[in-house]
Amino acid sequence: MILILDFGSQYTQLIARRIREIKVYCEIYPYNISISDIRNKICEIKGIVFSGGPDSVYKKNAPKISKKVLDYFVKNNIPILGICYGMQLLGNMLGGKVVRGKIREYGLIKVNFSNKSLLFRNISTNNFIVWMSHTDNVKILPNGFKKVAVTQNGLISAFENEQKKIYGLQFHPEVKHTQNGLQIIKNFVFLVCNEKQSWKIENFIKSSIEEIRFLVGNSYAICALSGGVDSTVVATLLYKAIGERLHCIFVDNGLLRFGEKERIKKILLPIFSRSFIKNNLHIIDAKNIFLRRLNNITDPETKRKIIGKTFIEVFEHTVKKIKPTISYLAQGTLYPDVIESMSIKGPSKTIKTHHNVGGIPKKLKFKLIEPLKFLFKDEVRLLGKRLGLSEDILCRHPFPGPGLAIRIIGNVTKERLCLLRQADKIIEEEILSSGLYKKVWQSFAVLLPVKTVGIMGDMRTYENVVAIRAVESQDAMTADWYKLPYELLCKISNRIINEVRGVNRIVYDITSKPPATIEWE
Ligand code: XMP
Repeated sequence: MILILDFGSQYTQLIARRIREIKVYCEIYPYNISISDIRNKICEIKGIVFSGGPDSVYKKNAPKISKKVLDYFVKNNIPILGICYGMQLLGNMLGGKVVRGKIREYGLIKVNFSNKSLLFRNISTNNFIVWMSHTDNVKILPNGFKKVAVTQNGLISAFENEQKKIYGLQFHPEVKHTQNGLQIIKNFVFLVCNEKQSWKIENFIKSSIEEIRFLVGNSYAICALSGGVDSTVVATLLYKAIGERLHCIFVDNGLLRFGEKERIKKILLPIFSRSFIKNNLHIIDAKNIFLRRLNNITDPETKRKIIGKTFIEVFEHTVKKIKPTISYLAQGTLYPDVIESMSIKGPSKTIKTHHNVGGIPKKLKFKLIEPLKFLFKDEVRLLGKRLGLSEDILCRHPFPGPGLAIRIIGNVTKERLCLLRQADKIIEEEILSSGLYKKVWQSFAVLLPVKTVGIMGDMRTYENVVAIRAVESQDAMTADWYKLPYELLCKISNRIINEVRGVNRIVYDITSKPPATIEWE
């Protein structure tokens, strides 16, 4: 594996994405990793990448790896690639000099490269454009190092010590704007580190099934199933590992989309046995308790907290009713959540209290199984595909744990849920039949807490407003509103007005995230 040490760059995850893209396994760790952490890694570390970061290496509290760890890497001749701050840190710790530059280099900059360096092999030109974002630079090289790239401004843009296998890049090869960036990463991974393309999802399936089997032994495990891609993939892996010693709980909280309860059995049928679905899939009708507790609650955070708490209660109650002693809880935690939880930047401000079925607190006293915790979302989709899950699950738009309750602005009632569910179904059907479903990150209806005057069949109406929300996004961190064609909007609007009683006006949300969020609450 390749180990990436994080010094706080906004691009650290991107480095990991690029290395996984070239089919090499990698993990991100905070910069202050210890020697015993390194020795405890299951895979052999074939190379290290130091990420960028916002600090200046010469400042007092700048993040640095311990001298002992750096010496360990150097002594064992483990290749190191420092990117931006990572390069400056290597320069600084190995005896060179880093200074605050008079010239700042931000954005696209032309660089001249030495074609003798292994890092720049298989690139047909020796000057090209790269993405920079720095003020500090390495002014004096450490002993034994030579410069192998210089910018149009005459600054050192890359250095190397071929014998020690230590390389530094002042620019960001992981950013798409850097020409030949992926080739540079490939050169480091394959030519310098001698790593093989061994990261295959098929290997992952085999090894994680074996691991789960070993871990659970003769015990039982439980999995909260929502029908989304993450929880369905987790349940499938567990089922393949321990068969009917797995129990899945699907909670119908009354806040789900149209036909979800019926859908869940349908999506499991191709993979799970009929006897599993009959005996081990526990569909819990908890509509009444959720709706009772949400009665007259209009504050979004209060809604979220009530739903989260009620979910746990229902879950706990169900577990007690299932006969075997359950020792393990399987969750669909993904790698970005893991990275975030150990981020060196500290916890981010709470915009919304997220709750999903994977967010069950540890105090439930189960041992956790998180088979997806080193995977990115697109890898989970690929995994699901290899496990035989249907397109319907793999491509389904994300749906928030608190469900339709956070898409009904204001009071949540049975009637308003029924109205929203119908409008939402129409939007999903129309976007699917337009062929745009896969291009849109999410699309859904929101029920507003206002009534407006309209006219239908010569009669005055005074009814509800539904908003259409459709966004495009890579990861839901930022999003742009999707420019749905007018004809499609027109069709959706007509159908909702005609088919959903109680709605006389449709509006289209044209805000991006930020400043808005994807969901309205
Ligand atoms: P926001 O509204 O914060 O949403 O821009 C970003 C993404 O997260 C989803 N979302 C949730 N998912 N539990 C979840 O599992 C939640 O509580 C939750 N709230 C928002 C939202 O649908 C979007 O994809």
